Amino acid sequence: MTEPTYPASVTLDPAWTPETVAVQAGRPARVPGAPMNAPVTLSSTYVQSASVEYGRDGNAGWGALEAALGALDGGHAVTFSSGLAAATAIADLVPTGGTVVLSTVTYFGVRVIFERLQAHGRLHLRMVAPDDTAAVLAAADGADMVWVESIANPLIVVSDVPAIAAGARERGALTVVDSTFATPLRQRPLELGADVVMHSATKFIGGHSDLLLGAAVCRDPAHAATLTVHRHDHGALPGGLEAFLALRGLRTLAVRLDRSEASAGELARRLTAHPGVSRVHYPGLPGDPQHERASRVLRDGVGSMLSFEVAGTVEQTEAFLARLRLVTNGTSLGGVESLIERRARYAGDASIVGPTLCRLSVGIENVEDLWADLHEALRGALG
Ligand SMILES: Cc1ncc(COP(=O)(O)O)c(C=O)c1O
Repeated sequence: MTEPTYPASVTLDPAWTPETVAVQAGRPARVPGAPMNAPVTLSSTYVQSASVEYGRDGNAGWGALEAALGALDGGHAVTFSSGLAAATAIADLVPTGGTVVLSTVTYFGVRVIFERLQAHGRLHLRMVAPDDTAAVLAAADGADMVWVESIANPLIVVSDVPAIAAGARERGALTVVDSTFATPLRQRPLELGADVVMHSATKFIGGHSDLLLGAAVCRDPAHAATLTVHRHDHGALPGGLEAFLALRGLRTLAVRLDRSEASAGELARRLTAHPGVSRVHYPGLPGDPQHERASRVLRDGVGSMLSFEVAGTVEQTEAFLARLRLVTNGTSLGGVESLIERRARYAGDASIVGPTLCRLSVGIENVEDLWADLHEALRGALG
């Protein structure tokens, strides 16, 4: 029997919604004998050829995932071994001696990358509050890149991506949006004028806390080509198995996100009324300072990340976390299981969050079970 041959990619209907694209994109074309899923290629080397020779040159599994992420965000996707590897490669788009406007509320790992580049004299940084659009644009004068998060970690601050991207473009600067918290289902920054979207697919896209993977999706194919060269030369490559798992995770993103987001909204409402909580940061709440902007720049929802401040001491907050039996006290986010942590335990976040701020990544467990756990632990720790 001979192996069936089939075209590499299924044809997507431009009328399909993102939820459908997430399920269909990156599959082999639907012809008799074709598999439903792109095969997993686990090989570090290939029979010598003019294109792929070695594992750093490419992998069929990356191609399928990149086709799907590119279709969702409307650009050219390049995948990496982690979100931070993608961020490192994107920083390469800044010319030597150039200037980057960086949001003060940025995942601290990304901030460390840029601070180190600045310390080495590679570029200059201007730090600005992401919710002050006028300040972001003032800082963008003469800059080469503006970097914001669509929904920023860990304070859940929403940036006005359309206004920032338009203003940055007028000033000749690229806009990069880390859309890890929003995912392509809650914001598509390229459609809003941004130049590059970054995802830590480790989080919601993978969705099961079982892989690390990053992606950059570029409006300009020349940027994608630069990033591809960076990946090849620096070696921050996604594993073939991780690429498969990330694509499998993407298939269920819509249902996971709908469910966890509905629970996040409910938990945010209940936490707001809880005597053990002094403040909730969740743009889905009508009273949240981010609410109006979030309804304008995000679509179909505001995601399932929320933060809240425990009305007590650091010791009481740690006691609350220790009492939780369902929600896990651990770092990371975007998985099917709920995770919580006190962010000020990281030096990188201690300067921007209050000492008792807990960041909660709401999973897909039953919301009443989640609430019972949070409520009991708060009551036990605070009396
Ligand atoms: C918003 C954001 N961007 C980037 C990253 C880094 O991604 P990775 O852990 O895949 O390197 C993280 C990790 O927590 C994150 O929360």
